[in-house]
Amino acid sequence: MYDGDIASVLITEQEISDKVTELAKQVAADHPEGDSDLVLITVLKGAVMFMADLARALPVPVQLEFMAVSSYGSSTSSSGVVRILKDLDRDIADRNVVIVEDIIDSGLTLSWLLKNLQSRKPRSLQVCTLLRKPDAVKVEVPVKYVGFDIPNEFVVGYGLDYAERYRDLPYIGTLDPKVYSN
Ligand code: XMP
Ligand code: MG
Repeated sequence: MYDGDIASVLITEQEISDKVTELAKQVAADHPEGDSDLVLITVLKGAVMFMADLARALPVPVQLEFMAVSSYGSSTSSSGVVRILKDLDRDIADRNVVIVEDIIDSGLTLSWLLKNLQSRKPRSLQVCTLLRKPDAVKVEVPVKYVGFDIPNEFVVGYGLDYAERYRDLPYIGTLDPKVYSN
């Protein structure tokens, strides 16, 4: 599949699986089963695989919510101005919430999302990301759970895409430059 498009495997399927188990333990330790279920919020589409695996690894009941957002074009995406294309189906007031992210790069989208969700008065709000790039450390976005810190390279697989392709790869890898130049 995708013959010759992947330059290198950065994180194997086994490494992802082990990390998901570890992250699930951390999240569960902070969120014991209580009077209401933990809510996992995923922003479509990159974190869908991660959310599906994390939800099944968590030993506490969770409810799944999805959002779809779009940045106002490339010039304003850096300003973190975001438009909601699909909002949550349910109120999160007084609920324990974990945002499930695929990757944090500049952190601007996440920073906007945290503000937006915080205004809905959840009981608690944390972020769990599978991947984090070096720039993310510069911004003040509180991220409690991080899977892997990776180099500043474009990666695909396990939900992450290039032009909507490669999301279905079971591992995370770097793209061969020939793919960009096609
Ligand atoms: P910010 O800069 O707001 O961006 O933290 C996070 C979003 O940027 C995309 N992104 C990537 N997508 N491979 C991808 O497939 C990458 O290496 C990558 N780096 C950033 C992604 O949509 C993420 O949610
Ligand atoms: Mg993408």
